Amino acid sequence: MRIPLSELPPLTGPLRAEALLAWLRTSDSEALEHLWARADELRREGVGDEVHLRGLVEISNRCVRQCAYCGLRASNGGVSRYAMSDEEILECARKIRDFGWGTAVLQSGEDPAFTGERVEALVRGIKAETGLAITLSLGERTEEELRAWKRAGADRYLLRFETSDRALFERIHPPLPGRECDRLALLRLLREIGFEVGSGVMVGIPGQGFESLARDLELFAELELDMIGLGPFIAHPDTPLGATPPPLPPDQVPATVDMAFRVLALARVQRPEANLPATTALATLDRQQGRVLGLKRGANVVMPNVTPLHHRARYNIYPNKASSNETAESTRALIVGQLASIGRTVAVGPGPSQAFRRRTQGAGGGLP
Ligand code: 5AD
Repeated sequence: MRIPLSELPPLTGPLRAEALLAWLRTSDSEALEHLWARADELRREGVGDEVHLRGLVEISNRCVRQCAYCGLRASNGGVSRYAMSDEEILECARKIRDFGWGTAVLQSGEDPAFTGERVEALVRGIKAETGLAITLSLGERTEEELRAWKRAGADRYLLRFETSDRALFERIHPPLPGRECDRLALLRLLREIGFEVGSGVMVGIPGQGFESLARDLELFAELELDMIGLGPFIAHPDTPLGATPPPLPPDQVPATVDMAFRVLALARVQRPEANLPATTALATLDRQQGRVLGLKRGANVVMPNVTPLHHRARYNIYPNKASSNETAESTRALIVGQLASIGRTVAVGPGPSQAFRRRTQGAGGGLP
């Protein structure tokens, strides 16, 4: 659908679903150039030119869930499972600190070995020794656990809602027996507890239509997200969605890097002061340019992987993941070089989002 720039709604957010839909659907190249430029402008005004580097530690690839899209799903017998020791995790945190970055992101499947108490102790230990900001991304956990982790010093929590289409979500994300799963309610709870809250979606999930994607973008604004992470859906052959994709609806969103850039740029329109990473999934579908183009189309964060090399290749939520055969040092060198090539600099300090600063310190906040 070639809706020309002159007929598209102005990119002053937050936009409603109808306006978002027009921007998601247009194939007009002039309109797209305008969208990239506007996202870049809003990124600069909202969060500045500095790029925050977050050290990502994939602490366990064990998972009790059966998500139809994810290679780490419990019933995938083809995965060699690992869980890092507390000392190994602490060692990664020291490396992040020594690199001069301000944040450690601990991510895993839903692994019962990381009990509430264990994570609490880990958070206290990392905080005490490194002073890093700590982001947790450990799936759907209980209110009690989340509150305890916040008290222990965790700063941020990431939990993507994946899609606002409830029927699609239920098809691809079965709940644990006897438990219901409402990620939107969890996101509101995380915010109430005092976390800086991140969420996001996959773009091009089989069965995902444009209208629900427009609604996803509306939700980014309604939830007042501090962080938004998104990437293209990448089929994993050892998952139900990858092996036997359902018949696609006529309105299917393509799982392309270009469509993901569009959603990223519109996420910046929706939340000018949020932190938005150029994700690994973008870098996976476009090895040469994915990360850099993300940073030029709205993103202001990169999450370099610092998971020890011997574990890394086993964290295959999707195949051919970028950086899966590099050391932390080589990933770091690559990213620092990419930033220099586009005139962006590495931020220092913990780097909370401007959105979070404004809501916790009152209006203003001021860029660093
Ligand atoms: N393709 C793309 N992204 C995926 N994720 C999980 N599986 C896939 C896949 N096959 C994303 C989900 C999850 C995040 C950790 O990784 O959005 O929240």
